[in-house]
Amino acid sequence: MDTLYFDLRDTRAIQRDRTEKISEAARILREGGLVAIPTETVYGLGANALDENAVARIFEVKGRPQDNPLILHLSGQQWLPRYCADIPPMAFALTRKFWPGPLTLVLKRRNNVPDRVTAGLDTVAVRCPNHPVALALIRELGLPIAAPSANLSGRPSCTTAREVLADMRGKIHGIVDGGPCAIGVESTILDLTGPQPRLLRPGGVPVEAIETLIGPIAIDRAVTAPLPKDERPKSPGMKYRHYAPRLPLTVFSGAPDATAREISRRMCPRTGIICFDEYKELFPYQEVRTIGPYSVPAEQARRLFSALRAFDESACTEIYAQCPDSRGLGLAVGNRLKRAAGFRVVESDTQRIILGLTGGTGAGKSTVLEIIEEMGGSVLDCDRVYHQLLDENEELRFELRRAFRTAFSIDGTLDRKKLGEEVFGKKDQRARLDRIVFRYLLPVLEQKIAAVSEGLCAVDAVNLLESGLDRLCDATIAVTAPMEVRVQRIMARDGISEAYARLRISAQKSDEYYRSKCDYELNNAADTRELFIKETRVFLRRLIDGLQEEKRYGAREKKKGRVIRE
Ligand code: TXA
Ligand code: MG
Repeated sequence: MDTLYFDLRDTRAIQRDRTEKISEAARILREGGLVAIPTETVYGLGANALDENAVARIFEVKGRPQDNPLILHLSGQQWLPRYCADIPPMAFALTRKFWPGPLTLVLKRRNNVPDRVTAGLDTVAVRCPNHPVALALIRELGLPIAAPSANLSGRPSCTTAREVLADMRGKIHGIVDGGPCAIGVESTILDLTGPQPRLLRPGGVPVEAIETLIGPIAIDRAVTAPLPKDERPKSPGMKYRHYAPRLPLTVFSGAPDATAREISRRMCPRTGIICFDEYKELFPYQEVRTIGPYSVPAEQARRLFSALRAFDESACTEIYAQCPDSRGLGLAVGNRLKRAAGFRVVESDTQRIILGLTGGTGAGKSTVLEIIEEMGGSVLDCDRVYHQLLDENEELRFELRRAFRTAFSIDGTLDRKKLGEEVFGKKDQRARLDRIVFRYLLPVLEQKIAAVSEGLCAVDAVNLLESGLDRLCDATIAVTAPMEVRVQRIMARDGISEAYARLRISAQKSDEYYRSKCDYELNNAADTRELFIKETRVFLRRLIDGLQEEKRYGAREKKKGRVIRE
């Protein structure tokens, strides 16, 4: 098959010439052919979306798994109701702001969208590309164009027509050259069919820009980590290897100085390097592709895929790449790099993050701690350290015995329950006990916190704020929950009466107190435990990422009191 080439790079080309080329390309599409088209993100491999056979050929030509659905490219938001059902108002707010542009929305489909396009799902992905040639083509065709990225399945996407030719020459009917893609990574995919908007793929529209418009969104786990083998991804495309260059790729994440150092330490003469402009000189004897300055992720996005492809023709045996941080377009660049590497990622610096957790009984603190442990973090249980001290520290016992005589038996054994009763509901007694205990406990806890040299550690302390331990934490989190929920939980957990559960809660500090004094609040008002766990995971992942970046690049303005659910 001959692949026709339409040169539409020159936007000033005389109108008639442009019109002729566009109507010719549209004619091929109308007749069921495949045409590669330029968009602002990457080149797409287009077909008439309502032509099942043409769509089927896209899968054949790309070698794309049948269960990976395609994006419908529309001429504007006025086409949404033609192909989508149950469209939430938020969808229009988003399209008004970001279309035409690199934002794809997943919505409920209408039945006129072929199963081949959606791979049998009851949802459909739609976007309106911000490229004059793509828009002119869709308008001329009068129908949506279904288009995946125009690369062979598994390879880096194409950001120039020449790269499309390398993958597709002789396999498709035409290619429209609209110049190099302005953005360089694919669109951001946002799923609006669930209870909360969910990011399925980071891309050309930064998460921050979306959140400014519609508030916090959930980040699908597949965005930052490989999926466990048995898990079904929300977006079928997430389970496949993507963007892979021919050579094995290793990605180095962390502060740029640290990653550059780590790369120099490990590289061999035939290691190819992808690095930020500032670090090129460090590798005078290597084959190097730069992707722009460290602080300009938009430039890195533009140059990333070409850099990955460039090594296909080299004498190198492997590639090492520096990874940007996740701010702005950096999230998309890092995501493509990590996937291209099959998640072979070297963490070049492991930051020490200390989270302080506090809150009243029954609110869900232990659930949050379990999640932190599951994330690889350690937990410093201050209550346990306290009890250990009570058992072992003679001086502490001596002082307590002087102050709370009745809690001790004649032979000097401490009855903890009695001690609790002595201070229960008595403010000055409680303060007295705290004063004595903190004097012994704090140095021990401080020492334990100082001994954490890297990684995540949660300090679990009811008295986090009163003891002053909060000052040793990178962030403090109040775990709170509505009163009724707490009462029910404590009754079930400890097998106590409702009256006693209420008494115990009322003897503690109020949620309002914790809320006002902590940096963040996790409000456990979710309908189910599963939902709370999910929300907490997302919250913690992002908090930790943010704190790590803060440590690397200096503090940003500290966000105070972010509530993930009210
Ligand atoms: O920027 C872009 O989006 C480019 C240009 C050409 O528009 N297109 C693109 O298409 O990147 P593709 O096929 O390479 O990636 C589409 C992604 C796949 O991961 C697919 O699984 C996901 O979108 N997707 C499509 N329909 C979906 C749906 N109904 N639900 C969830 N994910 C969907
Ligand atoms: Mg693709």
